[in-house]
Amino acid sequence: MNLADSEEMAAHLQLRGYTKTENLDDADLVLVNTCTVRDHAEHRALSFLGRLRQWKREKCGRKIIFAGCAAQRLGNKLKKTFPQLDLVSGAKEIDGFAELLDASGFFPPETAAHAANTKETGVTGYVTIMRGCDFACSYCIVPSVRGPVQCLPSKDILAKAAQKANQGYPEIMLLGQTVNAWKELDKTFADLLNDVSALPHVQRVRFVSPHPAFITPQFLACVENNAKIARHIHLPVQSGSSKVLRDMKRGYTRETLLEKLDALKARGFAVSTDLIVGFPTETEEDFEDTLSLVQQAGFSAAYCFKYSPRAGTPAAQMPLLPEKTLEKRLNILLNKVKGLAEAAYGAQAGKKKEVLMETPNKGRTSDNFWAETKKSYTIGTIVCSEVDQAKGTLLLMRD
Ligand code: 5AD
Ligand code: SF4
Repeated sequence: MNLADSEEMAAHLQLRGYTKTENLDDADLVLVNTCTVRDHAEHRALSFLGRLRQWKREKCGRKIIFAGCAAQRLGNKLKKTFPQLDLVSGAKEIDGFAELLDASGFFPPETAAHAANTKETGVTGYVTIMRGCDFACSYCIVPSVRGPVQCLPSKDILAKAAQKANQGYPEIMLLGQTVNAWKELDKTFADLLNDVSALPHVQRVRFVSPHPAFITPQFLACVENNAKIARHIHLPVQSGSSKVLRDMKRGYTRETLLEKLDALKARGFAVSTDLIVGFPTETEEDFEDTLSLVQQAGFSAAYCFKYSPRAGTPAAQMPLLPEKTLEKRLNILLNKVKGLAEAAYGAQAGKKKEVLMETPNKGRTSDNFWAETKKSYTIGTIVCSEVDQAKGTLLLMRD
């Protein structure tokens, strides 16, 4: 989501005559797009902002824009602590970003003459389909910084996806905080997936991040019948203990979750996930449940986080577990998940795969494995081949 938002904001800057650079010394403007989901993320953004003070002093006219969720949470009071800031644009204000630039008076007005070709390298075009979240997970700051769910109209989504596909992105990635909560009257997320995948030139559709609550029989029936929907899902489960899931207010139990994971695996999906350790009510036994869930679920990857209290969330009122307990549990879990990716790659030998080429001889399979072909192919085409063997986290294909 942040990548897509950054691209959108960059496009508005390009329309005002800016071009992208990877080099801070060459830059006239830095846009810092931020995350606040854990304290660590916000802290990194703010310390980067601190370092930009010197950068700004080095050349007259340099500008700094601070955007995204940390900007939303901290607001204009940031300008007091960081006087080097020119503009603060919260995550909720992305639709008004162009107006904000124009109202600031710092930037040249939009001109068609400056309209740059914004095509990124790579094969995946991002399309935001919804923003915000209607859940109220007790640890999470997202609903308060991003607000309630706002679904984009299907006609705008399809127009954007068609545009991306025509620009040469054969893979479309649909984005949203709870992406599969998307709906429009009778239309569900499954219907939208079918519509996007039916657009000319769309070869593959991915989405991130879904919530387990919307992995419904209708969704499963849709993906089963639609081979263009990638066979990988990043489904954050957070914990393997029904008690902790209840205290987190996730709305599912270990048992209902395992049923959904089994249904996905039965349809050929590789599943990766997010896990939190050290939620305030997590006992040793609950943590063991998370370890056993990882074992049972066969995730292809898992991102593991130490619980981070976020101001204003219900869980932030609860007494914290000792830091050394969090450290210990995180290390045990990280050790447990360390081998997951290699094991998942190792289990692919002999299977037939469709590889969407991202370089002349490397690409991604539908179930999201990184694969290398023997021959060279045109970037953006899908190559059907059999897996010879895995080399670490790379599949070596026969063709
Ligand atoms: N502490 C730790 N991890 C968190 N996440 C969200 N909020 C918190 C928090 N307060 C994690 C979840 C989510 C991912 C994006 O960040 O695992 O899926
Ligand atoms: Fe946060 Fe829960 Fe919403 Fe995900 S579903 S964004 S964890 S409140």
